[in-house]
Amino acid sequence: MRATLCFGGSIVVPTAPDVGCITEIAEALRELRRRGHEVLVVVGGGATSRAYIEAAKKFKTPDAFCDTIGIDVTRLNARLIIAALGELAEQNPATTFDAAIRAMLRGKIPVMGGTVPGHTTDAVAAMLANSSKSELLIFFSDVDGVYTADPKLDPNAKKIERMSARDLVRMTASIKMRPGIKVIVDPVGAKIIEQARIKTLVLGRSEIKRLPQIIEGGSHSGTTILPG
Ligand code: UTP
Repeated sequence: MRATLCFGGSIVVPTAPDVGCITEIAEALRELRRRGHEVLVVVGGGATSRAYIEAAKKFKTPDAFCDTIGIDVTRLNARLIIAALGELAEQNPATTFDAAIRAMLRGKIPVMGGTVPGHTTDAVAAMLANSSKSELLIFFSDVDGVYTADPKLDPNAKKIERMSARDLVRMTASIKMRPGIKVIVDPVGAKIIEQARIKTLVLGRSEIKRLPQIIEGGSHSGTTILPG
């Protein structure tokens, strides 16, 4: 199986880098490789990117510049995953999809942060899954699935077990992009998932340990997004 995996900054760097979480990610990725799976990895910016973006906004910095600061931080976080993976990883964060795919074909695990302003690493992961022809795209986040409303704000929010990519697009269409935005899947990513018909899972941090079983078809506690 070829899969693109996106680890949200919210779990990798919730306040400071979470070494326990990064270790679990590296162990799961090593196990996937032992089992013969091909993986491509994307890492988000987390609290560090938001802190830097908020600081930059104090100087009336244009959005695209704030986004660029966010991208730098995602690449910094990607380096932590690379450090945890050691020689198994391509040693620099990939900055293009081509470079990531070439590294994967050489037997390395490519780790990417962001690419260009205007979207989040959700969209980067969807684009990478599409260009690498991944059979599965998985988002790991601090929210363990897609909910009917923000579960941190609405106690009546319910987790959705299965949904169509079209519903995800409908749900995210009204979200306005801005630097440091916090969403489960950004609208650009949702659109790519729909158009490229990529099977997608949204999972919580607690499922990282079970990643090898989940990729091989095992059950999970998150949301499955199906084409159509
Ligand atoms: P993310 O929003 O992807 O980080 O990038 P995150 O912390 O993982 O988000 P969650 O936790 O999954 O919700 C941080 C910021 O970097 C900029 C955007 O401003 C984004 O909000 N960015 C990131 C880009 O402009 N382009 C990219 O390709 C990636």
